[in-house]
Amino acid sequence: MRAVSRKLLHAAAAIACMYFVATPASLLAKPAIVPDQAPPILLGTAWYPEQWPESRWDADLELMEKAHIHMVRVGEFAWSRMEPEEGQYDFGWLHRAIDDAARHGIYTVLGTPTAAPPAWLTQKYPETLRTMEDGRKDQHGNRQQFNWANPKYRELARDIAEHMAREFGHDPHVIGWQIDNEYRAVSYDANTQKQFQDWLKTRYGTLDNLNARWTTAYWSQTYTNWNQIPIETSFGNPGLLLSWMHFVSDTWRSYQKNQLEVIRGNAEPRQFITTNMMGWFDGYDHYVVSQDLDMASWDDYVGEGQLDRYKNGAADDLTRGFKRKNFWVMETQPGSVNWAAVNNSLDKGEVRAMAWHNIGHGADTISYWQWRSALNGQEEYHGTLLGADGTPVPLYPEVQQIGAEFAKAGPVLEGTSPKSQVAILHSYDSRWAINWQRHNKNYDPVAEILSYYKPLRDIAQSVDIVNPMAPLDGYKLVVAPGLNVLSDAEAKNLIEYVKQGGNLVLGQRSGMKNIDNGLQTERQPGPLVPLLGGRVEQYYALISPVPVSGAWGTGTSQLWAELLSAKSPDTRVLMRYGKSNGWLDGQPAAITRKVGKGSITYIGAWLDESTMENAAKWMTAMSGVKPAFGPVPAGVDVYPRYGKDHTVYILVNFAGTEEHVTLPSAMTDVLQGGTVPSVALPQYGVAVLSTPAK
Ligand code: GAL
Repeated sequence: MRAVSRKLLHAAAAIACMYFVATPASLLAKPAIVPDQAPPILLGTAWYPEQWPESRWDADLELMEKAHIHMVRVGEFAWSRMEPEEGQYDFGWLHRAIDDAARHGIYTVLGTPTAAPPAWLTQKYPETLRTMEDGRKDQHGNRQQFNWANPKYRELARDIAEHMAREFGHDPHVIGWQIDNEYRAVSYDANTQKQFQDWLKTRYGTLDNLNARWTTAYWSQTYTNWNQIPIETSFGNPGLLLSWMHFVSDTWRSYQKNQLEVIRGNAEPRQFITTNMMGWFDGYDHYVVSQDLDMASWDDYVGEGQLDRYKNGAADDLTRGFKRKNFWVMETQPGSVNWAAVNNSLDKGEVRAMAWHNIGHGADTISYWQWRSALNGQEEYHGTLLGADGTPVPLYPEVQQIGAEFAKAGPVLEGTSPKSQVAILHSYDSRWAINWQRHNKNYDPVAEILSYYKPLRDIAQSVDIVNPMAPLDGYKLVVAPGLNVLSDAEAKNLIEYVKQGGNLVLGQRSGMKNIDNGLQTERQPGPLVPLLGGRVEQYYALISPVPVSGAWGTGTSQLWAELLSAKSPDTRVLMRYGKSNGWLDGQPAAITRKVGKGSITYIGAWLDESTMENAAKWMTAMSGVKPAFGPVPAGVDVYPRYGKDHTVYILVNFAGTEEHVTLPSAMTDVLQGGTVPSVALPQYGVAVLSTPAK
């Protein structure tokens, strides 16, 4: 229905809104695109018209149109072109670029340019430069040299964002906004430190409270004045470290809000606001910063090597979890990057496979960074869709194919999104807390999450990754690997979930810390001990793996082993350690307890891959989790997206060989046409299948 009305609108627009501006003759008869009618699944690219003569734009846009590109992200580094001198604005070129793009059927996402302040700004307001951790001032010549907490910088950033929003907030061809670019660099200057101290005052109220909660009697750290509190980022008091990261997160949120408010105040509500995040990057709490955005988006770069479908897919799921809805891939590599140790290209076909993998995980847009390299500048070697000569590179036809497929599958994918029966809980507090005190240098909290994610995804064929405060009642199984910092509110959410019949599995190091990154006064898992009817008696960092055996077969625990006890008579031991350091020998490694219709399980071992597979089989079987689709050959990924009346299954073959998949029932083959009982997928092959909802 939407597709039909879109066509009609396009036709109406073709008659009604002919655009005649100073532009190449070939374009004069072309209609402008219709606001609010952007295709549901968009192919896009980062385009930098400010780097090229206007006489070149049409050739670029023509090539984009031929590749079915319907979105350009523009402007995010163009401050010096928009405001060449303080208070003198030039948006004419940007209007022309947006209008030209529209005549090629291309919508624009505008980036606010605040990640790259102009030289005049830095020269006139040197106080806006950030201070690096070693005390040196950053300088002009790169990007992200600004201080995100500096009031003058915020004033200037708000001003440019406001001017842009006034210019383009009603532009029919602008569909959304990206604020800044990849928030990352913070500042350690005296004024920021003062803001941090004020922030602490608001949070803790009194120094007595702060001193008690951080146990500052330790090493004579007791503070008698707020202005004594330093900034620490690695080996400081754990309460101080966590507070600094909370301050950093809140400060990014207010930095963003500063621009967001003026955009919202001047732009039509149909224009979304997002920022481009960075997957597993943990420089701030993404749940905090996402709160004010309409949509999450991220920049998905493989870097060196090939696509790791688990790690990358989990990053997609993580990003989807920020707003618990579909997201965009705002940037991704056309083949290769320029910043890895070895900047190999993805294989022929892999870029397309990766695009569909992202769509399968809930992306509604894939946008390539970048269209064509600037002829000079720091990124001359980065992958692009056009060469320096302005003609397509070998990857272009593959991207063109993706575009044609998005056009075909868009109407079927519209309004669909992934939804899993399994949730993995993820929290920045816990990741930070573990990373500051790994205790075993190889203990990587993301690797810990992935050790659970991989087998669970293989079985369930879809996993949500959400924050511990997310509503959990829709899930059959909730797994919390390494939920090291556990607030009372989070503990309550988990307890409630289990009492309502949910199945909760806690991974090692869970429930050890409180919200001040201090130790809980109960052993792990802290406030969940009574529900579990058992606890962690002691933890051991391991130099070499120790044997484990029981309900999940025989294997090893690596890096880490927790000696558990089952105190309650109905708490069952699932796995035990074999002979190792004496302490662990014969002791429980995993325990479980039924709670009404629900259950709580604690796994104290970092299980090897095949034992973890067995554990995942056990978890999914006991909680009634079923595969979303059905059996697929190893190496084939399946991604369900659910709509109101139908379900779409995307299949991508990452096995190195051709694979055949028998479908659970005959389905509509969206890309090839027809109703099919099975599909044959070559390496990196893709199928998009649609079936009525069950
Ligand atoms: C991103 C950044 C882009 C570009 C790209 C290169 O992190 O947002 O501007 O530099 O990396 O891979």
